[in-house]
Amino acid sequence: MDNASTESSLEILLNSNQIAARIRELGEEISNDYYGRTPHLVGVLKGAWIFMADLIRNLSVEATVDFLGIQSYVTGTTSSGEVKITKDLDVSIAGRDVLVVEDILDTGRTYHYLQGVLSAHRPKSLKLVTLLDKTGRRVVPVKADYVGFPIPDVFVVGYGLDYNQQFRRLTEVRCLRSVACV
Ligand code: IMP
Ligand code: MG
Repeated sequence: MDNASTESSLEILLNSNQIAARIRELGEEISNDYYGRTPHLVGVLKGAWIFMADLIRNLSVEATVDFLGIQSYVTGTTSSGEVKITKDLDVSIAGRDVLVVEDILDTGRTYHYLQGVLSAHRPKSLKLVTLLDKTGRRVVPVKADYVGFPIPDVFVVGYGLDYNQQFRRLTEVRCLRSVACV
């Protein structure tokens, strides 16, 4: 199978209209909550950058950005539980209203680890927005402050999310494994 037919055989879980509509809602909610403040968006690379680009354009409050590089999956679809920082923050988050932007919450291990690292730098506040949330997969009890879509326990790709670095450029969120999403 060539690339195009492999991609089109992956069932769509969320199409680009659904994603765009939900991000507009999230943008409004976050803008209301941070009214009068300037949130500092910390995107978790690489999965979250497409989501973050769309989210920031739906904010009506000023926002600054930085990125953290994290490797939580070496290969395959199973979390090793090991988190490695591959790119540190560029500017201090001390006293800032930090909003971490994640592509997906799965076991919760990555964000649990990040929460510890980021809190140690004394932000004024620390919140999490995640596009996708596999609520049923949690190993560590972390909760996102803003969730785009709760999704079932399926490995998904597209809209920034990858499988072995592939499929990030897809405009939809698709299920990797089988023809059916659930
Ligand atoms: P956690 O530490 O298990 O919560 O995993 C979070 C990270 O694992 C995410 O930021 C993703 O990079 C990756 N991940 C978890 N589930 C998926 C998925 O279904 N597709 C692609 N990446 C995933
Ligand atoms: Mg990630």
